[in-house]
Amino acid sequence: MRIILLGAPGAGKGTQAVKISTKYNIPHISTGDILRANIKQGTEIGKKAKSYIDQGALVPDEVVIEIVKNRLNEEDCKNGYLLDGFPRTVAQAQALDEFAKIDIALNIDIDLDILTKRLSGRRVCSVCGAPYHISSYNDTKCAKCGGEVIQRQDDQPQTVKARLKTYTLQTKPLIDYYADMQLLVNIDGNRAIDDVFEDIVKILN
Ligand code: AP5
Repeated sequence: MRIILLGAPGAGKGTQAVKISTKYNIPHISTGDILRANIKQGTEIGKKAKSYIDQGALVPDEVVIEIVKNRLNEEDCKNGYLLDGFPRTVAQAQALDEFAKIDIALNIDIDLDILTKRLSGRRVCSVCGAPYHISSYNDTKCAKCGGEVIQRQDDQPQTVKARLKTYTLQTKPLIDYYADMQLLVNIDGNRAIDDVFEDIVKILN
């Protein structure tokens, strides 16, 4: 299974990706997580990416394309993978078509008012990246690895606004891109996490 997860910031891509990757035993490849790990480690890629992420803009195509191309060449991707947050522009999608064959693009569709609530209340583990929400999790330690639970810097209201604008202008066109390729399946992401996942499992099975 070679799967793409599409959806606006906060739609629940990361949350569903963890569940899909566990159930189907395929690697979860999140360009956002990879870029944040690079920032934390102070690599050249991290230094380049930080200013874009902090402004709610996209990191240049050539940087992320190279990251994903290299990652998909690794042994654990032989039997499939789940791409979360890539592609994010038509240029990235076209590049991906040159080095991979995608089976399905799942688009998690969600209303704007729900999105804003999810992002403002989101907390993440600073070590493993596990996502939480203050409405259901108030511990300062991660339930999975014990790492510190923090608010992502790009979840501040001004940056969220910029990210949503970036999504509308640069990423939303991918819905039509994958619909034209007959690979798109829309999922109603406004429901509870387990209900969304149940739908995804039905589709993938
Ligand atoms: P990235 O990390 O990919 O962020 P994003 O796409 O903005 O998505 P998010 O992680 O914010 O949201 P999500 O959909 O995963 O939601 P989550 O599951 O956490 O990218 C960050 C930045 O990196 C970008 O802005 C860009 O600068 C750069 N970047 C990354 N990839 C790039 C690329 N390909 N090209 C260029 N630049 C790139 O859920 C959100 C919250 O809601 C959580 O609190 C969760 O617990 C809760 N929740 C989830 N589902 C539900 C539900 N069904 N019901 C109730 N609560 C829910």
